[in-house]
Amino acid sequence: MTPSPFANRVYRGDCTRVLRRLPDASVDLVVTDPPYLIRYRSRDGQGVLNDDNDRWLFPAFAEVGRVLKPGRFCVSFYGWSQADRFLAAWRAAGLFPVGHFVWLKRYASSRRLAECKHEVAYLLARGQASTPNQIIPDTLPWEYTGNTLHPTQKPVSALAPVIEAYSRPGEIVLDPFMGSGSTLVAARSLKRQVIGVELSPLHYETAVTRLLGPRAPIPVAA
Ligand SMILES: C[S@@+](CC[C@H](N)C(=O)[O-])C[C@H]1O[C@@H](n2cnc3c(N)ncnc32)[C@H](O)[C@@H]1O
Repeated sequence: MTPSPFANRVYRGDCTRVLRRLPDASVDLVVTDPPYLIRYRSRDGQGVLNDDNDRWLFPAFAEVGRVLKPGRFCVSFYGWSQADRFLAAWRAAGLFPVGHFVWLKRYASSRRLAECKHEVAYLLARGQASTPNQIIPDTLPWEYTGNTLHPTQKPVSALAPVIEAYSRPGEIVLDPFMGSGSTLVAARSLKRQVIGVELSPLHYETAVTRLLGPRAPIPVAA
């Protein structure tokens, strides 16, 4: 597959604006982990930008729906307590639920009314779903990352199976809320082209360092 002029770039900025630079139907798969709208605080007090408001929610997924190729997939983590808001935004963007993933943790990430031992993501299709590259189980294992690079860091090993199932080598994988770049690290290890966007300068730098190594120049700054 020919390299895309838009791919293999990471952008620092607001994805609702940055994604406007990408052409319609130019991305093969979106795997993303947006703010959960829960005012999250880690044990050491770190938060996530835009986790306290949903102004970005409809515009960001409208852009995701526009740049994704028809028939292709978006795998989006979400906060279960805010599922109705996410589903409304996805449907408005033409992204329809066609599956649902649960990752099982061996530890509890919090404990109030129940021990919280899972993460969830919807499998969404833009219009009529195409045939996946592989059929995988909708329950998957979860390894603890230690959140050393980001307060809500996702394990690369949890992201790799969905990337392998819903894209092929050489195709373009986008993460508009890339944080420390876990999706891009997983996608690149599977020989996919990657595009990432991150609002926080700190997390953007972490992602660039992870992708390129500590002494490499920053590829693109929005
Ligand atoms: C849940 S975290 C993603 C963590 C990531 N999966 C990882 O493994 O590091 C969501 C990220 O979205 C970023 N963010 C919030 N609003 C954004 C926006 N409008 N555009 C781009 N990034 C945004 C936050 O700064 C945060 O790093």
